[in-house]
Amino acid sequence: MTPATFTFLTGIVRARSGGVIGADQGYMLETRLTPLLKRENLPSLDALAERLKQPRTEALAQDMTELLTTNESSFFRDGKPFEHLRGLIPKLHAARPPGQKIRIWSAACSTGQEAYSISILLAELAEADPGLKTRPFEIFGTDITTAVLDRARAGVFTQFEVQRGLPIRTLMKRFTQEEGRWRIKPELSAICRFEKLNLLGDLRGLGRFDVIFCRNVLIYFDVPTKARVLEQIAALMTPDAALYLGAAETAIGVTRALVPLPGERAVYGPATGQEPGRLRA
Ligand SMILES: C[S@@+](CC[C@H](N)C(=O)[O-])C[C@H]1O[C@@H](n2cnc3c(N)ncnc32)[C@H](O)[C@@H]1O
Repeated sequence: MTPATFTFLTGIVRARSGGVIGADQGYMLETRLTPLLKRENLPSLDALAERLKQPRTEALAQDMTELLTTNESSFFRDGKPFEHLRGLIPKLHAARPPGQKIRIWSAACSTGQEAYSISILLAELAEADPGLKTRPFEIFGTDITTAVLDRARAGVFTQFEVQRGLPIRTLMKRFTQEEGRWRIKPELSAICRFEKLNLLGDLRGLGRFDVIFCRNVLIYFDVPTKARVLEQIAALMTPDAALYLGAAETAIGVTRALVPLPGERAVYGPATGQEPGRLRA
């Protein structure tokens, strides 16, 4: 692959998904795009670049972009955000009128482990506090990549995937085994909905959320893109909502639209001017 091809292909990915691919990641293009070259009967990445300069190659550019996203995820990833959420949900419940839906968004949900971890956590909370059983919840999972959304909707995970983060008792209670794989139980998937969505797009039509998980995706964006995405997210948060970022991500120094919750490194509220009255987990 020539340097010009590398610049051209990574430029497409950056424009479409926000993902920045470093000069040292040429190998990633070579390995991840091999199936696409085969499918398109193209001999090389240089040939792919030439094809993408032709008109009507929108779908090919999108397929390439999706193949270059990193979709790593696991159940209850990093633990801490879920423990914080466990404390926050009863407070949100107490602060909402009966019957009002609590809306939770797993932005960049990948294969669904984050959304299903939240659903499991809600089920555990409702079992401990029957008052929560009457509270409607929605978990909205979105991602830019079609293939991971198909997997999230299916709700079926390999032995390797369930071993990462799920205690055995939780696995036995919340999943059914099917031909060596594990399917999340229907009562847990019923409140989850998955849709394709690009975080670089206009997010205003999504409505307001009480909880947002946007974890391990901003790390791939440059600072202006992070700021744009975070500012759109902040505008979707209810005044007492919480935004959870990944362990290696921060909004500090990126935008003033979000404020970290006291004592928390990766949990933020919207900078509404109502901070003193905010709910604390
Ligand atoms: C590393 S995974 C994180 C999954 C999950 N949030 C977690 O922390 O385990 C990053 C996900 O972000 C998605 N993604 C990348 N760019 C995106 C964009 N512009 N809009 C929406 N999703 C995007 C990728 O497809 C990928 O599934």
